[in-house]
Amino acid sequence: MNQLRGNGGPRIRHVVENGAPYETITVDKLTPVIGAEIGGVDLAQPLGNATFSEIQRALAENLVIFFRDQVLTPEQHLDFGRRFGALHIHPAAPHAPGHPELMVIRADENSPRANGEGWHSDVSCDAMPPMGSILHIQTCPPMGGDTLFANMYAAYDALSDRMKAYLDGMRAVHDGEEVYRGTYANLGVTDKPSYPKSEHPVVRTHPVTGKKALFINRGFTRRLLGVPADESAGVMRYLFEHMENPLFQCRFRWTENAVAFWDNRCAQHRAMWDYWPHTRAGHRVTVLGDVPV
Ligand code: SIN
Repeated sequence: MNQLRGNGGPRIRHVVENGAPYETITVDKLTPVIGAEIGGVDLAQPLGNATFSEIQRALAENLVIFFRDQVLTPEQHLDFGRRFGALHIHPAAPHAPGHPELMVIRADENSPRANGEGWHSDVSCDAMPPMGSILHIQTCPPMGGDTLFANMYAAYDALSDRMKAYLDGMRAVHDGEEVYRGTYANLGVTDKPSYPKSEHPVVRTHPVTGKKALFINRGFTRRLLGVPADESAGVMRYLFEHMENPLFQCRFRWTENAVAFWDNRCAQHRAMWDYWPHTRAGHRVTVLGDVPV
């Protein structure tokens, strides 16, 4: 379905779905465009094949899925992630003791910053950026600390045909240097000699859905290739503003032991640090992805 919102504003094409009812889980959409809450599953238990397939389908159809009331040990969280692929080790962020794939997410009264405060797709500076991220929040502030997610298929679809033609085949530089150097010094992390830097297509085709998504983000993308620097800066500014239109978004309000699983290939996210001096804490397991095409 296409809808024209406003006077010449973005066209929203809703996610294409196969229409068959789910049989092992419940799927309640947060918005027509992105996000769904999943019920009827305990992620601490090994997933049967039917449930696993339905979770994969729900992720493909909704880009980010949420599970409430999941009491998970680090091992159970890691096992759930491994069901979707090999796990990623973050190039900079601290991890839980003995678990390099379990990234620590924490902001409290002593934090100089919080993870993910700007729009981004996780570690898009990697040559093979993560397919998905699975965040389990165990400690919530009394209010605030929501995470916003945005649909990059919808952002791409809403571009003019002329802009789509302009971006066709264009590549961009994603660089972790500015993002990571010194960022975790307050947590005792020593910087690495260098951080990942990669070139990726500005528009990527999702390997599962076959749909096109915008794949640049404010966090990591530094430069569009093949055009002068001022043109690159101007076009990126336009695209960042465009992709941050609330029409493409949902906003998730965390509760203790909720889990969010997002697809970095077609969604961006942004965490709100509006709860200082309260504490928000949990762990993220990140699933490896492939080379964007
Ligand atoms: C992140 O970017 O992984 C952090 C997201 C969040 O804390 O909500």
